[in-house]
Amino acid sequence: MVDLTTKIGPLRFKNPVTVASGTFGVKDELKDFVDYQKLGAVITKTITLHPRPGNPMPRICETPAGMLNAIGLQNKGLFEFVENKIPYFRKNRIPLIVNIAGESTADFSRMARALDYHRKSITALELNLSCPNVEAGGVRAIREKKLIAKTIRAVRKNTRLFLFAKLSPELGDVLESVREAVRAGANGVSLINTVRGMAIDIRSRRPRIWAGTGGLSGPALRPIALRYVYEVKQAMPQVPVIASGGITTWEDAVEFLIAGADLVAVGTANFVNPRATMDILSGVRVFCQKEKIKSIRELRGSLVSYRRS
Ligand SMILES: Cc1cc2nc3c(=O)[nH]c(=O)nc-3n(C[C@H](O)[C@H](O)[C@H](O)COP(=O)(O)O)c2cc1C
Repeated sequence: MVDLTTKIGPLRFKNPVTVASGTFGVKDELKDFVDYQKLGAVITKTITLHPRPGNPMPRICETPAGMLNAIGLQNKGLFEFVENKIPYFRKNRIPLIVNIAGESTADFSRMARALDYHRKSITALELNLSCPNVEAGGVRAIREKKLIAKTIRAVRKNTRLFLFAKLSPELGDVLESVREAVRAGANGVSLINTVRGMAIDIRSRRPRIWAGTGGLSGPALRPIALRYVYEVKQAMPQVPVIASGGITTWEDAVEFLIAGADLVAVGTANFVNPRATMDILSGVRVFCQKEKIKSIRELRGSLVSYRRS
C-alpha cells in the first residue's frame, strides 16, 4: 500500500487530490461519478457575502487546449451556504475548503468571522484574491498588491482557520506576492488562478463570451502553473501550495507533486471527464506502486536538476 497521506501544518489529508474552485459544483453534483469521501478535500466555488447572479450568457467558450470563462462569481451567498451546504459536508465527513471573495475588505472580514464559528466543519479557507471576471464592487481592485495584504490581515484577525491565499499569475512578481501574503497572515497559497484571455466570433464579430474577456483555464495553462509552483517551492519550501492549472491526468498530477505541490486541484478537467479526480487518484497510486514509492512524501519536491549542485 502506498501512503498518500498529506500533512500541511496541523491539517491531515488522506491524499493530495482535491478540486479547483468553481469546477465541481457547490455540493454533491458529481456524486454519480465521484466518491466524495475518497477525495483529499473539496474546495467550494467562491462564496460571497450576498448572492450574486453572475454575468449574462455566454459565460464560457472552448479555446485550443482550454476554455475561457467569465461566470462572474455566481453563487447564493454566505447565508445559504452555511445553512444548506456546510451540514452536508459535516455529515458526510468530507474535508471542506471554503473559497470566499468579498466586494470589500469588510466583506472578507465578516465572512471570515461567520465561518470561524463553523470551524469544526471546515478544514481551511481559500481567499479568492484573483478572480479576473468581476468588474463591479471592487473585486477587480484586489489585484493591487497592497490590497491583498490588507485583505489577508483583515481575514486573519477574524478567524483561526488555516488560510490559503489564491493568487493570480497576473500580479507580476508572484514570488513577492507570496511573500507578502505569508507576511500578512496566510498559511499557504493556491497557484494559479486563470489568466485573462479573449476569443472572437468572426461572423458576428462579437467576443465569444459576454464579458469580452475571461479567464483561460485547462491544459494551455499547465506549463505556466507548473513553473509558478516550482519557483515558489524552490524559494519557499515551507509554504504550502495548492496547485491548479490544467491538471487533467494522473501524469499531470505527478508532475506537480514532483515540482513540490502539497495538494493538486483538478479544475477544467472535471467538465471533460467528471471522473477525472478518481482517475487521477488511482493513477497516482498505481504509479507509486510501480515505482516502488512507499509514501507520497518521497515524490513531493523530488525534481532532479540537470545542474550539479
Ligand atoms: C468555469 C470556471 C469557474 C471558476 N470559478 C472559480 C471561482 O469561483 N473561484 C476561484 O477561486 N477560481 C475559480 N476558477 C479557477 C479554477 O479554480 C482554477 O484555479 C483554474 O481554472 C486553473 O485550473 P484548471 O486549468 O485545472 O481549470 C474557475 C475556473 C473555471 C474554469
